[in-house]
Amino acid sequence: MPDSKPYDILIIGSGGAGLTLALKLADFATVAVLSKVSLSEGSTFYAQGGISAVLDAQDSLESHINDTLDAGGGLCDNEIVKLTVLYGKRSIDWLREQGVMFTEEQSSTGKTQLHLNREGGHSHRRIVHATDATGKAVSLSLINRAKQHPNIALFENHNVIDLITATKLGQPNPAILGAYVLDATHHVVKSMAAPLVVLATGGASKVYLYSTNPHIATGDGIALAWRAGCRISNMEFMQFHPTCLYHPNARSFLISEAVRGEGATLILPDGSRFMHRYDARAELAPRDIVARAIDNEMKTHGVDCVYLDISHKPADFIRAHFPTIYQQCLDLGIDITQQPIPVVPAAHYTCGGVVTDSYARTDIPGLYAVGEVACTGLHGANRMASNSLLECLVFAERAAQDILKKLPALASEKITIPAWDESQVIDSDEEVVVSHNWDELRRFMWDYVGIVRTDKRLSRAMRRLELLKEEIAEYYGHFRVTSDLLELRSLVSVAELIVRCAQQRKESRGLHYTQDYPELDTSHPAQNTILTPPNFNAAHALKLNIPESMHGES
Ligand code: FAD
Ligand code: SIN
Repeated sequence: MPDSKPYDILIIGSGGAGLTLALKLADFATVAVLSKVSLSEGSTFYAQGGISAVLDAQDSLESHINDTLDAGGGLCDNEIVKLTVLYGKRSIDWLREQGVMFTEEQSSTGKTQLHLNREGGHSHRRIVHATDATGKAVSLSLINRAKQHPNIALFENHNVIDLITATKLGQPNPAILGAYVLDATHHVVKSMAAPLVVLATGGASKVYLYSTNPHIATGDGIALAWRAGCRISNMEFMQFHPTCLYHPNARSFLISEAVRGEGATLILPDGSRFMHRYDARAELAPRDIVARAIDNEMKTHGVDCVYLDISHKPADFIRAHFPTIYQQCLDLGIDITQQPIPVVPAAHYTCGGVVTDSYARTDIPGLYAVGEVACTGLHGANRMASNSLLECLVFAERAAQDILKKLPALASEKITIPAWDESQVIDSDEEVVVSHNWDELRRFMWDYVGIVRTDKRLSRAMRRLELLKEEIAEYYGHFRVTSDLLELRSLVSVAELIVRCAQQRKESRGLHYTQDYPELDTSHPAQNTILTPPNFNAAHALKLNIPESMHGES
C-alpha cells in the first residue's frame, strides 16, 4: 500500500542525527521521519556524558583535533576531523536555540557559562552536558520542535524493510527512489517514495550479548545500505565502553566516563588500582585501552567485574553532578556516595558503517547516511568520548547544505514505485527460530568477536554465520515480515561485515585487538577496511579521498 502523501525527503531515524537534519530542512521542503518504535527510543536519548566542543578560552581547536587523531589510532581522516571540530561551537549554539538546557555554572568573575566535563582522551574540559542525562535533554527538545513544524511528518512504529533503488527496478541510473516500510501498528507494508532518502538509523551494538545500547541498535541502516549497493567500512572497530553497570537487573545501564573525568578510580575487588599499569593517563586513557585493561584484569583474576569508585568525593557533589546514575544505582541497592560501583565493559558504539563523504553522501545518488550509521572518517580506529553526538549534528548540517542545493531540480520529479508483494508468503508458524537465532548470534559474537580476537575465533564465528544466513534467508522467503525477523536479518548481515573486516586486518589497531597480530603494522600507511557489495556501481559511486583500501571484495 503506498503512503498517501509524497515527501521531498524521507529520513529513516528520529535520533540526534535524523531530527537535526529534519529541522534544518523543514522550512524548505516536506520531510517524513520514521522511527522503528517510539520517537525517543534510540541511543541519543540515553547519552549521558555530553557533546564535545571547544568553548573554553584555555582550550583550542588544535587540541581537540589532536586528541581525536590520537584516540583514532592513526586512521582518522584529518580533513573530516578538522571540519567536525570547527563546527563544534555552532552546533552547541543551534541546540540551545532549539531549547536544550545545558548545565551552567558561575565563572570566577560571576558570569554564567556552560559547565564543561572532562572525559577519556580529552586533554581539556570540553564536554557540554545536561547533568548526566544530556541525550534526554537533546532528544526531547528536538522531538518537541519537530512536532511543532508543519512540514515534518513523524511516523512511529515504522520499520524500514529495504531501500528501493532505480537499479533494483531495472532502470539504468542508480538513483534512490524510496523504501518499503513495515507499519508495525497496522501490520501492513507501505511503499514510501522520495527522491532523497537519509539513513539515520544509529549503530549495531546489539549484535553483542552485552551492550549499553537500546534495543533498536540492530544495524539496520548498515544492512539496508549494503544490500542496496553501498560500500561499508571499518566494521572491525566496534567500541566497548569500559564501564557498564554490572547488575542482574540492569544489563544496559551506562556509568558515564564523566564519572572518571571527575576523579573516579577503577579498582579490583581487593581495592587496588590497576590502570596506571596500562597507560600514563590511567583512568582517563582512551576507551580502547581502558576496556582492554579491564577485560585483562577480569580474566587474570577470574572476577566477574571490577569496581568504579567515586565515593571519596563529597556526597552532595556526586548527587548534583550525576543524579541519574546516583538514583539508578540507589534503586538497585548501591549508594555510590558510600561504595564502589560494579562495572564491566559492554558493546557501545559502531565506529565503522556506511561510507560517506564530507556531505554525508553515500555511493547511491540521493541516499545519505548521518550519525552512528555512517563511517565519515572522524573516529578512525577508536572514537573519542562525546565526539559522536557532535558528529550527528555536524553531518546533519552538512547533508542539509547539499540537499538544499538539490531541491530545486527535484521539484518536478514524480516517482512511481511498485507495491510490496506478499502473494508468496504466509504467517510464520515457528517464531522460536527467530528468537533462538537472535540469542545464538549475540552470544557467539560476544565470545568470538569481542574485545580480544584470534583468527580461530573469527573463523568459528564465520562458520556459524553462514548457517544462520541460510536459515534466515529461507525464513524470510517463506513468511510475512515481522519486526523481530527484520532485526535478526540486519544483525546477521552486520555480524558478517564485522567478522569479514576483522579477518582482513592483520594487525592490532585501536579497538581491533587480535592475539595473532598483537602489534601495529607500521610497514605501510594505515588503511581503512572497505567492503564492496556485489551490486556496487563504481561508475556512479563516491570518489573517496582516503588511504588506499584493503581489498574487500564480496
Ligand atoms: P539513534 O539515536 O540511535 O537513533 C536511531 C533511530 O533510527 C531511532 O529513531 C530508530 O528507531 C531508528 N531506526 C533504526 N532502524 C530503523 C529502521 N529499520 N526503520 C526505521 N527506523 C529505524 N555519544 C556522545 O557523543 N556523548 C555521550 O555522552 C554519549 N553517551 C552515550 C550513552 C549511551 C548509553 C549510549 C548507548 C550511547 C552514547 N553515545 C554518546 C553515543 C551516541 O548517543 C550515539 O552514537 C548517537 O546518539 C547516535 O545518534 P543517531 O541519531 O545516529 O542514532
Ligand atoms: C559516557 O558518558 O561515558 C558516554 C560518552 C560517549 O559515549 O561518548
